[in-house]
Amino acid sequence: MLLEAKKITKRFPGVLAVDNVDFEVYENEIVSLVGENGAGKSTLIKVLTGTLKPDSGEIYVNGEKVSYHSPLDAFKRGISVIHQELNLCENLTVSENIFLAHELVRGKKKALYSLVDEKTMRRKAQELLDMIGARFSPNTYVSDLTTAQRQMVEICKALVKEPKVIFMDEPTSSLTVEETRRLFEIIKRLKERGISIVFVSHKLEEVKEISDRVVVMRDGKRVGELRKEEIDVDTIIRLMVGRDVEYFPHGIETTPGEVVLEVKNLSWKNRVKNVSFQLRKGEVLGFAGLVGAGRTETMLLVFGVNQKDSGEIYVRGKKVEINTPMDAIRLGIGLIPEDRKLQGLVLKMTVKDNVVLPSLKRLSKKGFILNEGEEEKVSEEYVRKLSIKTPSVYQIVENLSGGNQQKVVLAKWLALNADILIFDEPTRGIDVATKAEIHRMIRELAAQGKSIIMISSELPEILNLSDRIVVMWEGEITAVLDNRERKVTQEEIMYYASGQRKQNRGDIR
Ligand SMILES: Nc1ncnc2c1ncn2[C@@H]1O[C@H](COP(=O)(O)OP(=O)(O)OP(=O)(O)O)[C@@H](O)[C@H]1O
Ligand SMILES: [Mg+2]
Repeated sequence: MLLEAKKITKRFPGVLAVDNVDFEVYENEIVSLVGENGAGKSTLIKVLTGTLKPDSGEIYVNGEKVSYHSPLDAFKRGISVIHQELNLCENLTVSENIFLAHELVRGKKKALYSLVDEKTMRRKAQELLDMIGARFSPNTYVSDLTTAQRQMVEICKALVKEPKVIFMDEPTSSLTVEETRRLFEIIKRLKERGISIVFVSHKLEEVKEISDRVVVMRDGKRVGELRKEEIDVDTIIRLMVGRDVEYFPHGIETTPGEVVLEVKNLSWKNRVKNVSFQLRKGEVLGFAGLVGAGRTETMLLVFGVNQKDSGEIYVRGKKVEINTPMDAIRLGIGLIPEDRKLQGLVLKMTVKDNVVLPSLKRLSKKGFILNEGEEEKVSEEYVRKLSIKTPSVYQIVENLSGGNQQKVVLAKWLALNADILIFDEPTRGIDVATKAEIHRMIRELAAQGKSIIMISSELPEILNLSDRIVVMWEGEITAVLDNRERKVTQEEIMYYASGQRKQNRGDIR
C-alpha cells in the first residue's frame, strides 16, 4: 500500500467535514473519490496532502507513519496534488511555475548565494511537457494559456519530484470532451509509469471509464467502495445520494411567445462575427460549440461586460444601448457567469450578502435603506431551494465547497428575478442530484415565462433542455436548430460545431 489513512476526522466551525474516514491508495491504481457537493472530498484530500491538519487520525506513507507540517512535507514523500481551484501564477512562465519553490540552482546548494539555473529548468520543463504530450513552450506566460493547458502545467508541477501518488481534485470540470480524453491518456500513461492517481469528478460516466476502484463519501463519512467490476453509474448515485435520481426533467413543456431579445450582427475583435439571434418568452435557447467558439464572448457583449464593435441589441422590440452590466440588469437581464471566482462571487462576503447583492435595490426600504430581515429571508429561501450546504446564510462564501459556491452564484441571479437569464455552464462542478434539480428549475423558469439562454459544453444538457439550439464555431453562428421535439442529435451538433454551415438557419420568422 502506498498510502493509508486511518480514522481521519476534520472539523470546521459548525461543520464536521470529514468523519472518521479510512482511505487507502494501492500501487498502480486509479481510484476515484466521489460524493455530493460538500461531502468532504476536497477536505480529505487536503488532509492527506498536508494542506490541512486533521483533528485526529493517522497517515502512513509506504508503511511509515507521518505527520505533515506543510504540503512540501507530503510532496517530498511523493504525494502530489492538483487542487480543485488551479493555483498558478499568471505573470510567470510555464517553466517558472513548474519549478516554483523547487528552483534548480547553479553551483553548490549550500552556498551563501546561488543563481537560479533557468536554462536547465527550461529544458526539464520541456521534457515534462513532452512526456504528457503538451504542445506549448515552457517560455509561455500562464496568462496566455487555456484552462486545459493550465491543467497540464499543474500536472507537470505535480511530476517534478517523481511522485508515487497524484491527487486530482475535479481536473475535468472545465475541460471539453476532447480535452478530457487527452487528460485520460495522460493519466493512463502515468499509471504505466507506476504512479497511482486519486481522481475526483462529478461526471460519473468518466469515473466509470477511468477507475480501477471507487470510494464513495456522504456527509463526511465513507459510505461505500466499488471494485472495478462493480462500478456502474446508478450504483454510484445510490451510494452517494441514498436514492435514485432522474437525470432530466420530462414533461415541463412551454409554448414560446414573442421575441424578448434580438441581437443583430454583433461583432467584437474578430472573436464574435456578425452574430444574430432571437430569444423568445418562455424558451430555453441552448448555445453549443467547442470551447473558444465565442459563446461566452457573445454573452459578455449582451450583458455589457465588454463593448461591442458593431451590431444592435433589441429588448422587447426596443433598440437598447448596453454599456455596463448595470444597464443590462435594469433591462431585466441576468448573467450567471462561467468563472465563479473571477466574475461570480465576492469570496470574503457571506452567503447572504452574495445572494442579495444584485437585488439590493429591490429588497431595500424605499429603494435605499437596507432591510436585513428581508435579505435574510430571501437568501434562506434560496439556500433551501438549491440545497446549499452551509451552517447558515452568515457563512463566508470562501468556506463553502466548490459546488456549493456555484449554487450561490445561481441563487444570486435567481433572486434578482430577471426576465432574461443567461446561464454560462450552469452545472459545472455540481453533483448529480443537484444537477437534476437545476435542470428542473431551468425548465420551470421557462414555463413561468422567463427567457433563458444556456451555454453548455455538455451535449446531453443542451439536447434535453433546449427548445432551440444555436451552434457556434470560431465566433460565428453556423446553425440554429429546432429542438422542440427533442430530436436533435449529438452528431448533428458536432457537425455544425466543427464549422459546417446550415443553409436554412431556421430562425423564427
Ligand atoms: N475552510 C473551511 N471553513 C469552514 N468550512 C469548510 C472549510 N472548508 C470546507 N468546509 C466545509 O466542509 C464541508 C466539506 O467541504 P469539501 O470542500 O471537502 O466538499 P467536497 O466534497 O469537495 O465538495 P465539492 O464537490 O462541492 O467540491 C462543506 O460543508 C464545506 O462547507
Ligand atoms: Mg471539492
